[in-house]
Amino acid sequence: MVFVEARNLPSHVGIIMDGNGRWAQTHGHDRSAGHREGSAAVRRIVRAARRLGLKALTLYAFSEQNWARPEQEVDALMGLLREFLLGERDEILGNGIRLNAIGNIGRLPALVRAVLEPLRRESEGNDSMTLTLALSYGGREEIAQAARELATRVKAGTLETDKITAEALHGLMPSLTVGDPDLVIRTGGERRISNFLLYGLAYAELHFSDTLWPEFGEEDLYEAIASYQARERRFGKVGKAAPQRVTAGGQVIRLAV
Ligand code: IPE
Ligand code: IPE
Ligand code: MG
Repeated sequence: MVFVEARNLPSHVGIIMDGNGRWAQTHGHDRSAGHREGSAAVRRIVRAARRLGLKALTLYAFSEQNWARPEQEVDALMGLLREFLLGERDEILGNGIRLNAIGNIGRLPALVRAVLEPLRRESEGNDSMTLTLALSYGGREEIAQAARELATRVKAGTLETDKITAEALHGLMPSLTVGDPDLVIRTGGERRISNFLLYGLAYAELHFSDTLWPEFGEEDLYEAIASYQARERRFGKVGKAAPQRVTAGGQVIRLAV
C-alpha cells in the first residue's frame, strides 16, 4: 500500500515510457504487440493522473530519433497513436482535459495529424489537466528551435543580444508552457534521459522504475509520487531540515547548524 499526500503533489509529471520492446520479447510477441500493450498503459496512467489531480502530464511517446527504427515498427506506432487519439477523444473532452502535442508535428503522417489537430483545438479551453504528447520530440531539437527564434528576432532588430537570458529561452520552450517538470519518471530500467525535456530538467526530481511500460500501473505511479513527496527540493539553496548523521549503532544524531 502506497500513501500519496493530497497536498504537495507534483504539478507537472513527465514520463519516459520505455520497455515495450522488451515486454514483447519476454512474452514471445513482435515489438508492435508491445506497443499495443503500451498504449493500454497510457490509457490507465492518464486516468490515474487525472483522478489524482495532476495539473500537467507529459508523455514521451515518440522521439525524433525513433524515426530511425524499422519502417514497420514506425508504422505500427503511428497507427496506434491514431487509434489512441480516436479512442480517447470522448474521455479527453468529457473530463476537461486539454490535449497538447510538442515536437516536430509536421513530420507526423497526415492520418495522425488529421485526428491530433482537431482534438487539440477542441480541447484548448479545458483546464482540469493538460496532457502533452511528445511526438517526434527531442530536447536538443527544441533548444535549437528556440535558439533559431532568438536569432531571427535579433536579426530583425526586435531583440537585444543581452536580453537573451535563461528566462527568454524558457519562454520559447513549448514543453514548458505548463511549467517545469517537477517529477520525471523513466520506466523500463534504463537510467538515462534519451533527449527528453532537456532544458526543463534543471531541477526535476528523477524516478527510475524497473517495471516495463506495458506493466506500469496506477500503483507504480503512486509509488513514484510518494518517492517525490519524501524528498526535499532545494533549488541550490540551503535545506530546511538540519543535516543528520547516522552512527554505527543506527542512531540518528541531529547535527547543529
Ligand atoms: C518505448 O519502448 C516506446 C518507444 C520508444 C516508442 P521501446 O520500444 O523503446 O522498448 P524497448 O526499450 O526496446 O524495450
Ligand atoms: C526514449 O526511449 C523514447 C521514448 C520513450 C519515446 P528509447 O528507447 O528511444 O531510448 P534509448 O534508445 O534507450 O536511449
Ligand atoms: Mg527503449
